[in-house]
Amino acid sequence: MDSIKIAPSILSADFARIGEAVALMERCGADEIHFDVMDGNFVPPITFGAAMARDIRKYTGLPLDVHLMVADPAEQAGQFAAVGVDYITIHYEATVHAHRVLAAIRAAGIKAGIALNPATPAETLLDVLADVDRVLVMTVNPGYGGQAFIPSMARKIARLSAMRARAGASFEIEVDGGMNVETARLVAEAGARVIVAGSAVFGAEDPARAIGELRGVLP
Ligand code: DX5
Ligand code: ZN
Repeated sequence: MDSIKIAPSILSADFARIGEAVALMERCGADEIHFDVMDGNFVPPITFGAAMARDIRKYTGLPLDVHLMVADPAEQAGQFAAVGVDYITIHYEATVHAHRVLAAIRAAGIKAGIALNPATPAETLLDVLADVDRVLVMTVNPGYGGQAFIPSMARKIARLSAMRARAGASFEIEVDGGMNVETARLVAEAGARVIVAGSAVFGAEDPARAIGELRGVLP
């Protein structure tokens, strides 16, 4: 069984000390840094953009996992590709040209992901399963950290796993929102292997221990 990767979301960090936060997550054993980009349009808050990703490179060698919650993913994917990140995930709901944007991300040598809001069915991805390296299943409605996991999303992840097996595809399933040891176990049992965690890691007294516990949810 593939091992579980933990991607702390710096949405839950102190925005005035992002560099220190990513360095801390690396010391605490994180596998990736999850980077939530919000534009005040696709979702109400505004966070940070490609310049922040560029500067974060000085503070960590971990892969940067960019989650674009923006209304113009083609433009933002281009900006992030130019600064050299590792994963760029766009929202299915944000563009009618998902296939084109995914292809452009891969053509830039970057792993491409597609994210689904809770109301968007897994089945909508049937014809792009070979075109993505990751599918990000939102287990809360995007926009804010600290929300509660939506239980029906475990079934959606299980359906997505079955679709992947039927298609012989090899994308990873990533899960984002409301993750703690209990919810991470549910989604891992359904097939998820990349767990994004904001408040569960940044709100923990011992973040290294929190990361270790999340990674250990499968036997
Ligand atoms: C929500 C973001 C998440 C968020 C997760 O829109 O995409 O990455 O930071 O935070 P928690 O783990 O606190 O739900
Ligand atoms: Zn996210």
